Amino acid sequence: MSDHLTVVKHPLIQHKLTLMRDEATSTNHFRQLLREISQLLAYEVTRDLPMEEKRIKTPMQEMDAPVLAGRKLALVSILRAGNGLLDGVLELIPSARVGFVGLYRDEETLQPVQYYFKVPETLEDRLVIAVDPMLATGNSSAAAIDLLKQAGARNIRFMCLLAAPEGVARMKEAHPDVPVITAALDEKLNEKGYIIPGLGDAGDRMFGTK
Ligand code: URA
Repeated sequence: MSDHLTVVKHPLIQHKLTLMRDEATSTNHFRQLLREISQLLAYEVTRDLPMEEKRIKTPMQEMDAPVLAGRKLALVSILRAGNGLLDGVLELIPSARVGFVGLYRDEETLQPVQYYFKVPETLEDRLVIAVDPMLATGNSSAAAIDLLKQAGARNIRFMCLLAAPEGVARMKEAHPDVPVITAALDEKLNEKGYIIPGLGDAGDRMFGTK
């Protein structure tokens, strides 16, 4: 994957994203849509995974059939909203190892504060897919990627639902080696660091906390 930013404009993704943006959409439906979009995005994020051949026997004859090669993936959820993307991807790739990075955003400084970090061992040899629905200022995403690199990760992709131009620029500056895959690139951030037009607070909408 060579481009720094990929916007996946598949009609199914765009349709479901519009439903998610609509403030009338219920918490339950929001979560379901996020899960569905996460699987469609995962299709794109994993499209160039290396394959190898395995000898199998169909009911008709033997054949060399393609299977995923090499070490398994690691999925890393940036808490708490990342969990909404994680569940769907994990359903598609059940053997992936899973990590969590807990960061919250200080509402005044908009800077990330770490409160949890637990990731699989041997990140060095894995493709690490970090997931967080909203790439807003990019501060917490860049900080999460810093932590993953400190833990040994060398091959990282960042998957999100919505990105703001400011967040994309921040990630490109801090981590030019980490491709960003998103369902949409929105217009801007507001003064509180929310994405406009966006969908509001992804965590609150997903968990019904507001
Ligand atoms: N986090 C959110 O949940 N929404 C935004 O718009 C920005 C950051």
